[in-house]
Amino acid sequence: MTGTDDRIVVTDYIDPVTLLQRTSHAVAFAPGTLPPMALRRIAEAGRLSPSLYNTQPVRFVVIRDRSAYEKLRTGCNTSRDTFVKARKLFATMNRRLNNPTFVAGLERQIKGDVLPVHGYAIVPLHDDRLTESVEAASCALMAMQLEATSLGLASAFCSWTRGLSFQKEMVAMLGVPEGYKPFTSLIVGLPTHPLVTSEKQRRAFDDAVSWI
Ligand SMILES: Cc1cc2nc3c(=O)[nH]c(=O)nc-3n(C[C@H](O)[C@H](O)[C@H](O)COP(=O)(O)O)c2cc1C
Repeated sequence: MTGTDDRIVVTDYIDPVTLLQRTSHAVAFAPGTLPPMALRRIAEAGRLSPSLYNTQPVRFVVIRDRSAYEKLRTGCNTSRDTFVKARKLFATMNRRLNNPTFVAGLERQIKGDVLPVHGYAIVPLHDDRLTESVEAASCALMAMQLEATSLGLASAFCSWTRGLSFQKEMVAMLGVPEGYKPFTSLIVGLPTHPLVTSEKQRRAFDDAVSWI
């Protein structure tokens, strides 16, 4: 389908499986501004995503401003540092935090910046007073990532924005409403190289899917 409205150019339809095969989980982005309306279009995919009983428990903060993005990068590093220090204590309540695969992943991002430079962030805020708000935020994230990929943009998820709930200045910068919490974010940017279809290392189909 190709068409336009007064704000957004509707691109040719690309099916989700094709989008998922593309390399979109970038850790680095090229400098520069995004195509016009790209961020609006991606946030729109989040807004339109489903929720239990249509409660719509998710709002979105789009960070375009460079100094705000830099503050977010600092906030995410603080979130990581705090979590790394407290992990063993948290793990007494949540054993999954001792899982070796998780710990190995954490080790890889224990130093340096957790957010790439040249990115734009969309931080979902979920209403913590409603059930399934986390699931709704997850649906929104994936919808937004597919939209970003369909626009030819690279993207990555960043869980560290969840820790921003504990940082007053970050809560103020994001304008988090009462009862809401920042969720895992989508970081979007210009790809450093064109997105191409690739065979990702995923569980084999017959291992992942059973039929009864
Ligand atoms: C909900 C979610 C949160 C994630 N958070 C982070 C994160 O904070 N830091 C990170 O390095 N990778 C994070 N990842 C992993 C990457 O975004 C990506 O999925 C992974 O590198 C695999 O990339 P691939 O799909 O290209 O194989 C997260 C993934 C998901 C699904």
